[in-house]
Amino acid sequence: MSRCTVHPATADDLDPEEVLELYRSVGWTGYTDRPAVLAAALAGSTHLVVARTGDGVLAGLARVVSDRATIAYLQDVLVHPDQQRRGLGAALITAALAPFTGVRQQVLLTDDEPGSRAFYTALGWAEVGADEPRLRAYVRIVD
Ligand SMILES: CC(C)(COP(=O)(O)OP(=O)(O)OC[C@H]1O[C@@H](n2cnc3c(N)ncnc32)[C@H](O)[C@@H]1OP(=O)(O)O)[C@@H](O)C(=O)NCCC(=O)NCCS
Repeated sequence: MSRCTVHPATADDLDPEEVLELYRSVGWTGYTDRPAVLAAALAGSTHLVVARTGDGVLAGLARVVSDRATIAYLQDVLVHPDQQRRGLGAALITAALAPFTGVRQQVLLTDDEPGSRAFYTALGWAEVGADEPRLRAYVRIVD
């Protein structure tokens, strides 16, 4: 694959099958098992950015859900395995959060996985409890 570029997109810019292929490539079956939910998630995101190879292949995606004033929630950052460790994940986060630089709370929730932890801490994100003892994070997963 050739060098990638990162840019904003809308859900309408994306072929549902290329999106599913990207999510499949990182094993995110929670989305790929529910394509209609994934399509609604992309359409409902406040800001969506993608990475494409020079050949136009979808190589990565990140999206933010936000009120544009007090919170920007980074939901999904994924890079195709063929393109990982080339700075694309970092570039996607920078582009995804670019419209929200004045927003104080920039948050995310992710799996307890060493690669993810290394990635987010390398980019300056603090883990609640471990790196950021002043805060607590609470979540309710409704299955
Ligand atoms: C996590 C993910 C998005 C990182 O994307 P990426 O393009 O490989 O990340 P980058 O190349 O921008 O990495 C930036 C830095 O993060 C750190 N990092 C990234 N992945 C890492 C890993 N697997 N192990 C250790 N450190 C890692 C490194 O410090 C890296 O800099 P370096 O390569 O110069 O050492 C990618 O591995 C991925 O899509 N994983 C599957 C989906 C996922 O788990 N997403 C995160 C949760 S939402």
